[in-house]
Amino acid sequence: MNLTEILSINKEGWEKSAERFYGRTALPEYGPFSLSEEQLNLFGTIAGKKILDIGCGSGHSLQYMGNEGAQELWGLDLSTKQIETAEKLLRSQESKVTLFESPMEENPGLPPEYFDIVYSIYALGWTVDLQKTLSNIHSYLKPGGTFIFSWEHPIHDRLAYENSAFTLKKSYNIEGPEYNEAWHNNVVIYHRKLSTYINTLIEAGFIIEKVIDDVVLPTTITENPSKWYSTQRASIVPATFIIKATKRNTRHLL
Ligand SMILES: C[S@@+](CC[C@H](N)C(=O)[O-])C[C@H]1O[C@@H](n2cnc3c(N)ncnc32)[C@H](O)[C@@H]1O
Repeated sequence: MNLTEILSINKEGWEKSAERFYGRTALPEYGPFSLSEEQLNLFGTIAGKKILDIGCGSGHSLQYMGNEGAQELWGLDLSTKQIETAEKLLRSQESKVTLFESPMEENPGLPPEYFDIVYSIYALGWTVDLQKTLSNIHSYLKPGGTFIFSWEHPIHDRLAYENSAFTLKKSYNIEGPEYNEAWHNNVVIYHRKLSTYINTLIEAGFIIEKVIDDVVLPTTITENPSKWYSTQRASIVPATFIIKATKRNTRHLL
């Protein structure tokens, strides 16, 4: 399977499932069992900033950014349905909104060195080419600009719940494309180690500011442990990780 075929399979998967994910993983939340932006304050001041969302989905994170006073809201997403939904949701925003239907592996016409903040909430891990995607993101940011993303922690889906216990079912070490179980094997997602995300960011020219994989658990457990994101699983391994990075400010080095 080549990368174009994987993108096409994943696009089809998202066109079918978009409604199910309407506003599901969006700022101020970073993802299941994770700390929120209200607790972490990773973005700092948003007011007056030019912002780009990679894999903007239904547009709920951009809506949050608009409500926080962002000057310009830009987003891209692979799915036609998601872009249509985001356009509707963001119609009432005062800030200028520009959305592209595009894979994150390509630049659909985004300006270079333009954005103060680029972020991606539970979308970056869908990329079929992490190096290319991070190098694109690096090129969109102003020197000194911030890139923040959250994604499912790569240890999370290595466990399986079988016979009333969690077992390590898949190798953490072996990386590459896999049919995804949470999606009933209808989409293909690359398994990558946490170190791969960190090292590819560094190779793309980023400075890592923070890596967060703290787990926040509810006080009472009500759900079935076999659920994809269950409290029981999250009590053993993190469900979400977040990385904050900055584009090296070369002007300061001269
Ligand atoms: C969980 S949703 C993101 C939610 C969104 N960040 C929000 O704030 O509402 C993941 C998104 O990634 C998009 N996606 C998947 N593969 C992609 C790719 N290669 N390039 C761009 N977007 C992609 C999907 O269409 C989907 O909308």
